[in-house]
Amino acid sequence: MKTYRIALLPGDGTGPEITREAVKVCNAAADKFGFKLDYTHYDFGSERYLRTGETLPDSALDEFRRHQAMYLGAIGHPDVKPGILEVGILLKIRFALDQYINLRPVKLYRAEDCPLKDKKPEDVDFIVVRENTGGIYTGVGGVVQKGAGIEVATQVMQYTRPVVDRCLRYAYEYARRRNRQKRLTLVHKCNVLTHCGDLWVRAHQEMGDRDFPDIEQDYNHVDAASMWFIKQPEWYDVVVTENLFGDIITDIAAMIQGGLGVAAGGNINPEGVSMFECMGGSAPKYTGKNVINPIAAIAAGGMMLETLGEDAAAQAVDLAINQALNGGQIKSLAAGRMGLGTAEVGDLIASLI
Ligand code: IPM
Ligand code: MN
Repeated sequence: MKTYRIALLPGDGTGPEITREAVKVCNAAADKFGFKLDYTHYDFGSERYLRTGETLPDSALDEFRRHQAMYLGAIGHPDVKPGILEVGILLKIRFALDQYINLRPVKLYRAEDCPLKDKKPEDVDFIVVRENTGGIYTGVGGVVQKGAGIEVATQVMQYTRPVVDRCLRYAYEYARRRNRQKRLTLVHKCNVLTHCGDLWVRAHQEMGDRDFPDIEQDYNHVDAASMWFIKQPEWYDVVVTENLFGDIITDIAAMIQGGLGVAAGGNINPEGVSMFECMGGSAPKYTGKNVINPIAAIAAGGMMLETLGEDAAAQAVDLAINQALNGGQIKSLAAGRMGLGTAEVGDLIASLI
């Protein structure tokens, strides 16, 4: 039987609870569609860091490379200074495994979960392709005269043409494969970021003209996109943007699809090992209470199956989520107000596979 090796990093806080439900549903899909998922568990996260001072050793990266995909629950802990686990684990994996695409579907399953007036599921259904290893996240820059009162800090947004091009190519191809409005909206700030913005704008246009004449080229400044996501989400089909802007606008987008309880994402290396995660954090205050919403984590599992090439299984996961949400048992997407527990939501979705 076809078997996929998955590196599983449940992580911190509610991470293990939601990972359990994602595994439950993915296994149900694997049973139904005739393949197997073979998980290797890793305990990277705050507990291990607080115990040993280690975030993620390089040797783990070599182990990850021997898997077909990775699945991450959540990382973050109130006792660990911001940046240590994010940079030491999450960003380290994204960079080392060259997961250069962050794919974030924005899909509303039921109108009642949308905070926007009169928007229905067909109005909120697009995907953001966020460049995931470049830009200001590379950390180029530094500090001089720290604490001296005249301290200078720089953090540089840097992009090379190949890094921009490979992201755009992925996004254009996605728009073609998706075959909906066939529109690729580039989001940037070329009216102010006249170097990086101009690079993205030219690359977007040149590639579109040359290789994707069937895809409509569209452009929004990032501030305008933040407004249009709220005002007219139905305009969007595939959105492509640089790293930091993508980080910010996908949090906005998560809200119009019903919140972090349903927002999933994939850190994709189209030629290598990809890692799937929900967009929400480790939610310490909900930990261990069986109240966190596992749907985003389950949807991330579905994205993992799709990337592994198990399209039918991935579609079954999406359909099961849709049916569960529209079946009347799940009252709200908010933690603690679902009307069912975390494990019960997982059971329900697994049973619908
Ligand atoms: C995300 C997160 C990360 C990011 C953090 C935790 C480093 O906000 O995945 O969106 O900024 O990319
Ligand atoms: Mn973010």
